[in-house]
Amino acid sequence: MSRPETLVHPGGDVLAAAVAARLITAIADAQTVRGSASVVLTGGRTGIGVLEQVRQSPALSAVEWSAVDVFWGDERFLPADDGERNEVQARQALLDHVGVDPSRVHPMAPSDGEFGSDADAAAAHYAELLAGLAPAGASVPSFDVLMLGVGEEGHTASLFPGTPYVREESRTVVGVHDCPKPPPTRISLTLPAIGAASEVWLMTTGEAKAEPVAAALNGAKPVDIPAAGAVGRDRTLWLLDTAAASALR
Ligand code: 6PG
Repeated sequence: MSRPETLVHPGGDVLAAAVAARLITAIADAQTVRGSASVVLTGGRTGIGVLEQVRQSPALSAVEWSAVDVFWGDERFLPADDGERNEVQARQALLDHVGVDPSRVHPMAPSDGEFGSDADAAAAHYAELLAGLAPAGASVPSFDVLMLGVGEEGHTASLFPGTPYVREESRTVVGVHDCPKPPPTRISLTLPAIGAASEVWLMTTGEAKAEPVAAALNGAKPVDIPAAGAVGRDRTLWLLDTAAASALR
């Protein structure tokens, strides 16, 4: 378990550009060692903004995009073509503009797919997919980088404070119901799955996130501030702008 490291950037645009550069470098480094890389994307303004900056980066072709395994940390359980889906936004921001191998891009199921409106079945299927791609003895792949946003009440992925989902200790993927952030039904990795990643990057901006960020970094319990429970095996980075970092001692 890694201790959180905090990096503060002067504004949201710089943060997105800096995280994009970091992501390109991390993927290229993993590919140098293993010939491939495994990344977990997130939704939200910050997460999608990073993907847009990656697309615009002069270093874009430093990555062999056909050798990147793409997963999602959570998904809004909506019809496949709904613009609010994290997958749809990630494809528009980046994936449709680079030569990813479609067989290595693993979206979470939509609400009009093979599982219909059963988010729990869709979650169980994603857990099986992850297990099938995991190394021996593991239940999820060894993600190189897992990116996360942070909500105003401290949620991360689709794990919200005080819910049974943030307390989940055995399942790797859950269907999430009655979410305070619309849409109400989602699919999310759980903290044990998030913790399997080599590096976890929590990235957020704005004054409204200052309190949950400070709480998470000052020892809050994950059940109260789920982002506090997002810890990478080798590294945990909190990538903030000055406003989101403004309540830190
Ligand atoms: C989602 C995201 C969610 C998001 C946070 C932060 O599906 O909405 O996965 O966890 O990352 O709510 O969102 P912002 O970056 O827009 O503040």
